[in-house]
Amino acid sequence: MTGTLSSHTAEATTPFELSALFEPVATEFKQVEESLRSNLVDDSPFVATLLSQVFSTGGKRIRPGLVLLSSGATLGAGAKFTQNHIILAVLTELIHTASLVHDDVIDKASVRRGQETVNRRWNDKLAVLVGDLLFAQASICLARLQNPAIVGIYGQVLGDLCAGEIKQMNQQFVCQVNWQAYMQKSICKTASLFSAGCHSGPILNLAPAETVEAMRQYGTNLGICFQIVDDLLDVTSSESTLGKPAGSDLAQGILTAPALFVLQQNNAASRELETLIKTRAVSQPGGAAVALSIIKDNGGVEQTVKLARNYASKSKDALKLLTASPYKDSLASMIDLLLERTH
Ligand code: FPP
Ligand code: MG
Repeated sequence: MTGTLSSHTAEATTPFELSALFEPVATEFKQVEESLRSNLVDDSPFVATLLSQVFSTGGKRIRPGLVLLSSGATLGAGAKFTQNHIILAVLTELIHTASLVHDDVIDKASVRRGQETVNRRWNDKLAVLVGDLLFAQASICLARLQNPAIVGIYGQVLGDLCAGEIKQMNQQFVCQVNWQAYMQKSICKTASLFSAGCHSGPILNLAPAETVEAMRQYGTNLGICFQIVDDLLDVTSSESTLGKPAGSDLAQGILTAPALFVLQQNNAASRELETLIKTRAVSQPGGAAVALSIIKDNGGVEQTVKLARNYASKSKDALKLLTASPYKDSLASMIDLLLERTH
């Protein structure tokens, strides 16, 4: 399998390799896509234009795909997909998209998935409201499920997304290496929604508690791995691949695994990197290039790949409990595809 599963900001459509993984849920995936598109319908043509700006670029739909595969892998004997599985997948993508629209306001981002952001094309106020509108649509979906446990799980996700952003802001340009803070932030920003998406389907299916827990573990570890790989690509990739400027984490003083591995070395390289960060030189093109070279030349990339593999392996272990099925195979292949991005 060739690895073209790029950053969650990069692709306009689901790449071929990912589509192949979603094959066992192709019919349901189509229904999710149609339902997301129907959210574009609004009495006001302007609101419809705003929403279509957000959805026209598509996105890879990794999270709804995971919801469907996890649901399929844990269906009881003779059971079939229901409308509730589709709703769960839709609301997961709505929350993800809403959080990105808000994130672009916070980050003052101009480009996402190779397209102008809402805040750039119009303004921050409209982007905040578009994000809120999507969160509202997600809440309606959540209510339709009539499942208090899942309401609680997704309520936690919303809190985690906000807390993750706050934790990240609080750590900007802070050179003291704090792996616990980095991991917590990654769980809040990314793994929480992956985890919710992966274990809520089993809850809908009334799967045994240990199966629900295994899928929670699968999603959490996959999400952490996803975030680590995303952090790595910010260092190793290019703007044309990412659909956004490379090195933007470092430029904003967001210190992720590749930088943390070098900063903890307590040597000339770590001190030079620290100076570039503390003086804000990393926010200038010249300084950013030097910082990226220091990270690459001092093992930051290799050690980050190892860290990502560690979480990938935990995620794979969690699948052992599932009975064999094409859904399970795709969940396992998802981990491999994610790791291939590191090549
Ligand atoms: C991408 O981060 C952003 C997220 C994964 C989540 C952001 C969450 C919020 C802004 C809070 C959402 C609000 C509510 C009400 C729940 P990134 O900047 O690292 O990634 P990028 O490079 O794709 O922009
Ligand atoms: Mg951002």
